[in-house]
Formats: sequence, C-alpha cells, structure tokens
Amino acid sequence: MKKRTTGSALALRICFVMVLVAFLLNFNDLALKSIVFYAVLLVAGGLIWGRLVMALWPKLTQKARARFGVISYGASFSGGTLLPIRFGEDIATGERIALQLTIAITIGIWIALIYRFIYKNKPNMRKKIVAGNWKMNTLPAEGVELAKGVVAKRALASNEVNFIVCPPFTHLAQVAEALKGSSIALGAQNCAAEAKGAYTGEVAASMIAALGCKYVILGHSERRQYYGETSATLNRKMEQAYANKLTPIYCVGENLAEREAGKHFEVVKVQIEEVIYNLTAEQFADLVIAYEPVWAIGTGKTATAEQAQEIHAYIRKVLAAKFGAAAAECPILYGGSCKPSNAAEIFAKEDVDGGLIGGAALKADDFIAIGQGFGA
Ligand code: PGA
Repeated sequence: MKKRTTGSALALRICFVMVLVAFLLNFNDLALKSIVFYAVLLVAGGLIWGRLVMALWPKLTQKARARFGVISYGASFSGGTLLPIRFGEDIATGERIALQLTIAITIGIWIALIYRFIYKNKPNMRKKIVAGNWKMNTLPAEGVELAKGVVAKRALASNEVNFIVCPPFTHLAQVAEALKGSSIALGAQNCAAEAKGAYTGEVAASMIAALGCKYVILGHSERRQYYGETSATLNRKMEQAYANKLTPIYCVGENLAEREAGKHFEVVKVQIEEVIYNLTAEQFADLVIAYEPVWAIGTGKTATAEQAQEIHAYIRKVLAAKFGAAAAECPILYGGSCKPSNAAEIFAKEDVDGGLIGGAALKADDFIAIGQGFGA
C-alpha cells in the first residue's frame, strides 16, 4: 500500500541521514557505533510511535494533540540525550555533547516528519463525532435502557468515531452510570448563563460537569426559537461551559425563509461572528460546531450532501478568517433528519465531520448505524 511504502522509505531516509551525520562529524568508532545504534533505535521507535499517533490522532482534541507533540518530543529528547551518558562513558565531553545534540535534532526532525506524514496522507484527521441529542424524550429508566443499548452496540462502529449522548438533565447521573467503562461520552443539552445563585429552574455548567458531562449543546435552534436565546446569552453560556471544562457543541443554521431568500451564508456567518469570534485561541481549540438547517430538523427533509458540504466549507472559511489554520481542526457536524440511510453520503464530504442526531438517536441501532456511516 502507498502509505506503508512511504513510511518505510521515510524511515530508511532517516537512517541514511543519521549515518551520514556520523561520518560528516567524523566521530570516533565508539561514537559511530552509538550513532548507528541510536539510528536503529530511532527508526524502530519512530515507526511504532508513528502508528500509535495515527491511531490516537482522531480521538484527540487539537489542544491534546499539541500537548501530545510536545510530550513526545520531551520524552524522546530526555531519553535520547540521557542514554549516551551511560552508553559512551569514554567519549570526550565535546563529542558527547555533539552526539547528544545530533540525537536531539534528529528526534525533532523525526517527530516533525511523522506529523507531516500524517497530514499529507490523511489531511482530514479531525475528530469524527456522532452526538445524540435526545431533546425532551425518555423517562429515566428508558434513558438508561437506551444508553445501555448504545454501549452494547458501540463495537459495531469504527473505534475512530467518538459517540456522545445528550440526555435530559433529569437522568444525566443515571446515564453516566450506564456509560461507565465505555467510550461513549456524556453531554447536556443546555446550561445556565450564570455560575450559580438565585436563578430558579436553571442548571449550572458546574452541575452538569459534576455529573460527568464532557460536552454541552449550546445555541440549538429550538433554544434560539422557543426560548429566545440570543448571541448575548450564548456568549455567557460559552464562558460558563469553558470555565467548567465542558466542550461546547455550538449550533448554527438558517430557517426555511432565510434559505429560500439565499441568506443562509449570511445567517451562519453572523451566528459565528457574534459568539465564536469572542473565543480565545485556546477555547476555539476545544469546540465542536453543528450546522443544523432549521428546515431539516425533525422534518424528514435533509440537506443534500452537496448542500451540507457547501455550507460546512463556508463555515470553515469564516472560522479561518479569525482563527487561521486552527479552523482546519474544528469538527463541524451536520444535523437535521440525519439517519442510517443518508449518513454515509453526508459524512463522506470533506468538511463534514459527523452528525448531531435528534430522532434517530432515540434508537440504539439507528444511532450506531449512523456511526457506521464513516465505514467500519
Ligand atoms: P433531527 O434533530 O435529527 O431529529 O432532525 C437534529 C437536532 O435537532 O439536533
């Protein structure tokens, strides 16, 4: 396969460079042996490391990826530079420093090449997400049943897919219990704009976080439409979410009249500018966007895969205008009558990174089958 050949060719090239460096720097025999020893160690280690990174990459947030890169360099750097102290006891200090420097630089190049390789071969390494928005459905016992069903069937979909379920507040704790030990994450459908206090009927972000939620849906069109949520409120809710280490799933989307008037681009642009543009780069790195055309929610009408791609690519462009290259890492989900029969076609589009699922998330079989839309 093309991928493997490129990987091994890369490994061989590294090996060659290592040996060349050893000769160019004219090391004595012991140093040369050390260099060759480390070259082999680095190539073997690098190949294993590369595979591990490939497997883990889609599961990590952008922030975690950066941390992962720094840690991997730090760990191999310390390992690589400490080892020669014992290994080459009789190397002169100057040569030892040169050897350590060579190792440090080579590890850096090696790791940079691994990451470059990942992006070149799999440019779309964004997290793949299938999130279930249960809305105001299920009693606690039914919710637990549903969650257990999702856990039981999860293995039918690829490991690369991140499943999230967002039950009503009332049974978050019980569903959290049912999800324990599984890879399914928990999310809430909303949170208060304030931290705590005299706000009868509201639920604070800290409360849902304490129950095990990792995500919170914010700005869903039903909240904007029926509960008058504005960008001003959503800015405060976003702040609360981040303050409590919750990843917001921020929803945008136009209604039918706006779509028919050709205003859909403008509508989502404003929804993003008024809220997402206020985030810091660090907050933006921990964000999921869901594009949900209001006319497709619960109506059985789905945007075509082309319509979804067109607006997802536009959303990414709007994000890039503010956040630059980081926009390429932000997962953008499609929502609105997404079901097993149309998921694969929509998810196949370059800028669609999964779905926010309403009706079809209420059946474990359908929910997981939608996840299979990414391929097994
Ligand atoms: P739907 O809802 O899948 O039932 O259309 C999606 C949503 O509103 O999140």
